[in-house]
Amino acid sequence: MRGRCSRKLGLLAKAGFLLWLLWLGYLLLERVSFPMSSSTDEDEEESNLQARQLAIEESGIDGLLAKPVVIKPLADDNAPGEWGRATHLNLSPEEKKHEEETVERYAINIYVSDKISLHRHIKDHRMNECRTKRFNYRHLPTTSVIIAFYNEAWSTLLRTIHSVLESTPAILLKEIILIDDFSDRAYLKSQLAEYISNLERVRLIRTNKREGLVRARLIGATYATGDVLTFLDCHCECVPGWIEPLLERIAENASTIVCPVIDTIDWNTFEFYMQTDEPMIGGFDWRLTFQWHSVPEAERERRKSRIEPIRSPTMAGGLFAVSKAFFEYLGTYDMGMEVWGGENLELSFRVWQCGGSLEIHPCSHVGHVFPKKAPYARPNFLQNTVRAAEVWMGSYKQHFYNRNPPARKVGHSKTKKKKRNCKYL
Ligand SMILES: *[C@@H]1O[C@H](CO)[C@@H](O)[C@H](O)[C@H]1NC(C)=O
Repeated sequence: MRGRCSRKLGLLAKAGFLLWLLWLGYLLLERVSFPMSSSTDEDEEESNLQARQLAIEESGIDGLLAKPVVIKPLADDNAPGEWGRATHLNLSPEEKKHEEETVERYAINIYVSDKISLHRHIKDHRMNECRTKRFNYRHLPTTSVIIAFYNEAWSTLLRTIHSVLESTPAILLKEIILIDDFSDRAYLKSQLAEYISNLERVRLIRTNKREGLVRARLIGATYATGDVLTFLDCHCECVPGWIEPLLERIAENASTIVCPVIDTIDWNTFEFYMQTDEPMIGGFDWRLTFQWHSVPEAERERRKSRIEPIRSPTMAGGLFAVSKAFFEYLGTYDMGMEVWGGENLELSFRVWQCGGSLEIHPCSHVGHVFPKKAPYARPNFLQNTVRAAEVWMGSYKQHFYNRNPPARKVGHSKTKKKKRNCKYL
């Protein structure tokens, strides 16, 4: 009796194990075959197959959901600037003169930029943990990428746009919103409009007078349909994997503004320097100019691993992601801020005093061309910082005025109405 029973049990167990195996096989098959059957466009399928196959091999099933809006063409190892290398050209005196003119005009070596592919690859030197991290793509919020520009050079602007399309998973990118802040260069008119009309998910909005960076960005934000607003400058290159950490962090806590690590792209050679050490955090001096600092010991101890986001008092400026709802709750940017300068500190002070936090994510990397000098003046910097000091610094504003006597003479226009939920100094 006993023997028969245990034999029966053994059989049952075997059958159960077989069923489980079959189920597992079915699940795997279904997941692997899903993307193949879902695509209908055969031409696209053809050209993407190779790159996609690569992506699948590299990143397993996650790779399918990580598929960018547009697949980057394969790298040409010999092309100038490929993999983020420096470009040095042998120029004739005439070409040299042309090169110098572009530097004079843009404060960036556009002659070199024009020689580099708009689709170049950047070598991924991020920490191992960043490169192997998996994301739950179906549960990340979507984003609208907002890029304002004024008289930007063609190749740097277009490289920014292509790099977003080629390094942002299609499932996460709602759209790119370009805001032309009343540029007057001819190539930014119909030529740009036509080029953009051939790109998927890119919208071009034009202001009908010069608004300045801050208001141009806010105008762009009003068109955004994504859950998260991601602001970029108009001469950037995103490193694949840049958006996921930002969106994951905002999914975890929607009152966080998250910045990528800003890598330097050399204005002269376009060499991409990826910052591989611990990122720096933002601070400020009493004149309210932005400063970089190393991460304090207490913050280092608070974090459980080196890929956790780092809290930062301030942000450098142009590059950050924020939940659309939280940005609106915060009262967005101060609309009274003219052109640029100071708005980054104002927003930083605001987020910390209104229940949010500001962080830098070590796994998110975006390259930025820092021009040789500021391409256009910041006549409103003093006025903007006075506004920031008056609203957010409480009695500490005395330090600002003491360090910055000319600020006393600047009247500040009507400042933003204070919000009830903020703790003012
Ligand atoms: C989100 O972040 C804010 C600011 O750091 C914090 O006060 C709040 O407790 C966090 N919320 C959650 C759910 O962790």
